[in-house]
Amino acid sequence: MDVLILAGGLSHERDVSVRSGRRVAEELRDRGLKVEVRDVDTGLLPALREHADAVVWPLLHGASGEDGSLQALLELTGARYVGTRSKEARVAWVKPVAKAVYGGEDAATPDFVTLPQSLFREVGADQVLDAIVQRFGLPLVVKPARGGSALGVSLVRERDQLARAMVHCFAYGDNAMIETAVDGTEIAVSVIGTGDGARALAPVEIVCDGPYDYDARYNPGRVEYFTPARLDESATATVTDAALAVHRRLGLRDLSRVDMILDGQGRAQVLDINIAPGLTETSLLPQAAAGSGEDLGALYESIVRGVTA
Ligand code: DAL
Repeated sequence: MDVLILAGGLSHERDVSVRSGRRVAEELRDRGLKVEVRDVDTGLLPALREHADAVVWPLLHGASGEDGSLQALLELTGARYVGTRSKEARVAWVKPVAKAVYGGEDAATPDFVTLPQSLFREVGADQVLDAIVQRFGLPLVVKPARGGSALGVSLVRERDQLARAMVHCFAYGDNAMIETAVDGTEIAVSVIGTGDGARALAPVEIVCDGPYDYDARYNPGRVEYFTPARLDESATATVTDAALAVHRRLGLRDLSRVDMILDGQGRAQVLDINIAPGLTETSLLPQAAAGSGEDLGALYESIVRGVTA
């Protein structure tokens, strides 16, 4: 079986994607599969024609990889590919829209509001910032409404940090999401499969010496991971059930990762979902597979072989 991995792209997460693509290719080649890795550029369509029988694995993170546009192109060309389809990807990509779809008893999500950058000009920055603090209190979280790897995300503890956090956020897009900050245990649950056949890997607990930001995610040393997470049976079921509910409600396919906080009341507060989770050496899904006693290469091969159309 031939596999064509698409990695790189032009999003802020390009480097992560290149690293993910390289790692997945190594694992699949070790399993005897023929794998080519290529970037998404003007040579993409000829490459898809040349590899018409291959299974395509779109491993691009961020815009154009996770927003459904690459998936739509693959659907137009008739390619068989790994992962969530374009329609569902479009919904999953926009955090406030995704929250509206997956939020429920078993998958709570912090209270939030989405604000366009233009509002700050129309109403006046100070008025908007005051309204935000009045509505959410402090601390609060500012994050781009679209995006991944915690880029543009700030935890704001003081009113005078808020303007800077907004500017940082708007560097990554025109819409900001303000969220209530939730205290608790940071957990990531990776899900493999589709629909009723989906299953969760061991939850990973993330303990960071500061914010779990881009630097902490991709440079070893600042984070301690516990896999499986140090949770009792009931808490493990809570986070696992939440991840599966989110994956199924959003109609995600093949693989995803659901990031959440297990709060002081024992509720899973879902923060983010990834339809193309990072698969680098330090990423969470590979750690979850190891913690579940699964061979990573065999897992990736089963994902590729499971692609039907
Ligand atoms: N968006 C990146 C790749 C992740 O969170 O894994």
